[in-house]
Amino acid sequence: MAVSEAFLHLDPMLLFKSGANFGKQRNLGLVEFHYSLGTSQNGIKSYAFSSVGYYSTDRKNRTKRSCFSRCKCQKADSISEVTADDGRPTSLSINGRTNVNNAQEFELNQLLKSDKEGFANGDTNGVGTVIDSRKSIEEEAWDLLKESVVYYCGNPIGTIAASDTSSSSILNYDQVFIRDFIPSGIAFLLKGEYDIVRNFILYTLQLQSWEKTMDCHSPGQGLMPASFKVRTVPRDGDDSVTEDVLDPDFGEAAIGRVAPVDSGLWWIILLRAYGKCTGDLSVQERVDVQTGIKMILKLCLADGFDMFPTLLVTDGSCMIDRRMGIHGHPLEIQALFYSALLCAREMLASEDGSADLIRALNNRLVALSFHIREYYWIDMKKLNEIYRYKTEEYSFDAVNKFNIYPDQIPPWLVEFMPARGGYLIGNLQPAHMDFRFFSLGNLWSIVGSLATVDQSHAILDLVEAKWSELVADMPLKICYPALEGQEWRIITGSDPKNTPWSYHNGGSWPTLLWQQLTVACIKMNRPEVAEKAVMLAERRICRDKWPEYYDTRRARFIGKQSRLFQTWSIAGYLVAKLLLANPSAAKILINEEDADLVNAFSCMLSANPRKKRGQKGFKQPFLI
Ligand code: GLC
Repeated sequence: MAVSEAFLHLDPMLLFKSGANFGKQRNLGLVEFHYSLGTSQNGIKSYAFSSVGYYSTDRKNRTKRSCFSRCKCQKADSISEVTADDGRPTSLSINGRTNVNNAQEFELNQLLKSDKEGFANGDTNGVGTVIDSRKSIEEEAWDLLKESVVYYCGNPIGTIAASDTSSSSILNYDQVFIRDFIPSGIAFLLKGEYDIVRNFILYTLQLQSWEKTMDCHSPGQGLMPASFKVRTVPRDGDDSVTEDVLDPDFGEAAIGRVAPVDSGLWWIILLRAYGKCTGDLSVQERVDVQTGIKMILKLCLADGFDMFPTLLVTDGSCMIDRRMGIHGHPLEIQALFYSALLCAREMLASEDGSADLIRALNNRLVALSFHIREYYWIDMKKLNEIYRYKTEEYSFDAVNKFNIYPDQIPPWLVEFMPARGGYLIGNLQPAHMDFRFFSLGNLWSIVGSLATVDQSHAILDLVEAKWSELVADMPLKICYPALEGQEWRIITGSDPKNTPWSYHNGGSWPTLLWQQLTVACIKMNRPEVAEKAVMLAERRICRDKWPEYYDTRRARFIGKQSRLFQTWSIAGYLVAKLLLANPSAAKILINEEDADLVNAFSCMLSANPRKKRGQKGFKQPFLI
């Protein structure tokens, strides 16, 4: 019997609920069938049937998956209405407001009207939600987060990037971004709402290596999209019914056409967090999920021309997703890469087929941590060393390995570097150190233990010492300092959105405070640093309508082109509050330092001619 035929004989609901796993022996992934209620464009009630489908682990069959990621809606007047927990038809909340049809809009207006009448001193927030002045900031944040939920075939699948109706151009802010969903997913996990995270993990997996091309070129196998959109479209040949279609973007439509290297890494980190938080390991153990992890790893660990263990990427391949001079080996990607490798190692089933991959992964972990800890780290002592570097050293044991010319030390850095504290630089290339401080990379290096314990404390010391530069009126600067003048012109390509102290160029992003700073501070047992920053942000963030970013050196203005009601600003706030109230929950995101890696690192260090600070009593090096 053909696989698809076999499934027709099974109870779809049962399959979905049980997450039954088929074909483990036959190299096949999972099948899921979903029923949900939808409403066609002309208001006819219908039910949706979705077969997410099976897939095989070979390339040919995997690319066939696209034809299954459709949610076929059929006319079904006789079927009783399925409602969400709050009693509203599930289809009402598709994409916040964008997918609602006339009938739904009417119902929604009725709901809002009655809400409004209930709130004597209420105010609307611009997205139709009524802000109750009696509500706490957290309550408002939860309401907004729930409104941002996007549904696919009636199932919650992610959160929209921003719900700002005041903005004239939506661009792609109506999509679910993989990186933006991380704080949302963590908030939902901490709240005990697991389904949305599980769905997100499984549906985005279906999008991995989608058959997409840009000018005849396909992305690498294992690439995860930057974002996706749920489109409700009339069904082919029958306008009376609609179907939901998932439409991913791997960068082929994105501004600048950048491939999102961080998406797959975040996906692995979230997958592990899901397992740790729920105790449900069945998701990570699924054949398709294991295959997905391996595909991401293979893509990242593939041999190239590079001499460095760091991941070589193009400009704008992460949160900073446009030209900002972060091509090469940017810290953010390396921090996520390291953390994703550790998470994957925890989750990969040990079987004969993955032995080589695990060996390659272990080798990379050792080399990567050595490289970053040694060559990216700067503090007063190291700066002074660079200041006195000899150049043009041709030898195996050169001290100035990358031929850095001391004149590169920028004047601002001499002022910026505190006597106590230090940080990991933004990027390292031959004859080039990007000395800018990038928050995400530094904080995630703490969270994932890419930085040593001493370095981690030193980074937080620097954040405290440079509070008025990095936190100022609104946490947290995405990078410091901004590129100005000729440097801005050359490096950003005269980008009018990335003007000095705005957006990616020294703008302040609340989402960084919540998730990254809070988890890093909790890990280092210094939650008071994050608490101080949260209190500061709380004074404005809600009143300012949850902006995406702030501008100016001290973050005094809401960003020039900043979206309001930016979901990851909202979700991040909730995560920070939940974690500060229950710090032990942060362990779902943290990677503790691995003793074997410390050992291997130490052995490499003692073999390094530049520094002989080998520690006593270490065991044999890690198996390479
Ligand atoms: C901007 C940000 C990017 C984010 C997206 C959606 O493009 O640079 O990091 O994912 O908006 O919020």
